[in-house]
Amino acid sequence: MTTDARSAQARTATHWQRFSVPYEYPVVFTEGVFDADNPALRDVLCRLEPAKRHRVVVFVDDGLSAGKPPLLEAIQAYAERHRDAIDLACAPIAVPGGERIKTELHFVESMQQTLFDLHLDRHSYVIAVGGGAVLDAVGLVAATTHRGVRHIRIPTTVLAQNDSGVGVKNGVNLQGVKNFVGSFAPPFAVVNDLEFILTLPDRDKVAGMAEAVKVALIRDAEFFGWIERHMDHLATFERAAMATMIRRCAELHMRQIGHGGDPFEMGSARPLDYGHWSAHKLESLTRHHVRHGEAVAIGMALDARYSVLAGLLPAGGEERICALLEYLGFHLWHPALAKTGADGEWLILEGLKDFQEHLGGELTVTLLAGLGTGVEVHEIDAERMRRAMVWLQARAGG
Ligand SMILES: NC(=O)c1ccc[n+]([C@@H]2O[C@H](COP(=O)([O-])OP(=O)(O)OC[C@H]3O[C@@H](n4cnc5c(N)ncnc54)[C@H](O)[C@@H]3O)[C@@H](O)[C@H]2O)c1
Ligand SMILES: [Zn+2]
Repeated sequence: MTTDARSAQARTATHWQRFSVPYEYPVVFTEGVFDADNPALRDVLCRLEPAKRHRVVVFVDDGLSAGKPPLLEAIQAYAERHRDAIDLACAPIAVPGGERIKTELHFVESMQQTLFDLHLDRHSYVIAVGGGAVLDAVGLVAATTHRGVRHIRIPTTVLAQNDSGVGVKNGVNLQGVKNFVGSFAPPFAVVNDLEFILTLPDRDKVAGMAEAVKVALIRDAEFFGWIERHMDHLATFERAAMATMIRRCAELHMRQIGHGGDPFEMGSARPLDYGHWSAHKLESLTRHHVRHGEAVAIGMALDARYSVLAGLLPAGGEERICALLEYLGFHLWHPALAKTGADGEWLILEGLKDFQEHLGGELTVTLLAGLGTGVEVHEIDAERMRRAMVWLQARAGG
């Protein structure tokens, strides 16, 4: 060591700061959350300070306003009925549903302006009622206003109830990149109400089921078998089957976040993102005309075939997965998959690079070693993936 290095070392001292913060939040399953006598929402609001009257701002997905009875009025009536516990800081505010709220960032700013104008403090509540997009945008607003206002999510789509809404992430899009700006911020509570699912267009009911098939395929053979046995009921959106599917899927996602060892995704793995590297790319190639769940279904079919070609999944498994997805209502091909760049390469394959870039570190892709067993790999053979693409295209007659 040189004299300079020795003297620099003598002037340097490192103190390690260390702490851990336990998180917990209830995920409640109910029906008729805004029915006057349903205590679920009131109970979660009051869980820390039962005697207090809580200030609340509610943002509502405008895709829900067509419902009956009118939702905004129902929320107001609920707050009035529980006025000893709930102090609505202003009338519920409708915000744009769907990806628009995550893409046009003036909506985020205007929600923050509202919280500023209302003098909302860190012990107040920001409630989001809506699909995954509204939850992501409002979640970001809640997480960043005063560095974190209590946030309650009331997810209203299958996907948001069984996957995104019960998790710890929020985010908005920038420069066309999904979720480029966002944070990890566990909510104060989640309240899932099955009745919202009933008003959902069929297309969205189908799309959300992709995440259930996904989590079954990588984590739970028994659940995969249950989905297969109940595919008739699921394909016709039978209430009891939908309720069981959503709850089991939400539980499996919660288990991964709570016990998977990496809730804030510090590592390189995204264990819940089976079928997602190509799905995210397909979503952006189609400018979100393909729903997230629809893209995930295609991504799962592709990676199932790849898993077979790689010798990981016994042959026939991929066909069983495709047959189930098609029975549930998914189409396993989209013309945008065949788009090529100047070099003739399929653009979808760029999704692997994007996937790695989002997380950093080593490329980590979840494949299948069985119907219920995910396996992580760190290399994807481009030629083999091209063959999987050709198979999928030929299978769809595309
Ligand atoms: N934070 C996460 O961990 C996470 C995980 C997965 C997906 N996401 C995000 O979730 C978003 C997709 O969410 P989504 O699939 O819920 O769709 P969405 O939020 O885009 O909603 C789809 C459409 O349904 C409408 N809608 C919502 N609830 C309805 C109801 N009950 N009845 C009728 N219409 C209703 C909305 O207005 C919208 O037009 C994407 O932005 C995705 O990036 C986030
Ligand atoms: Zn997903």
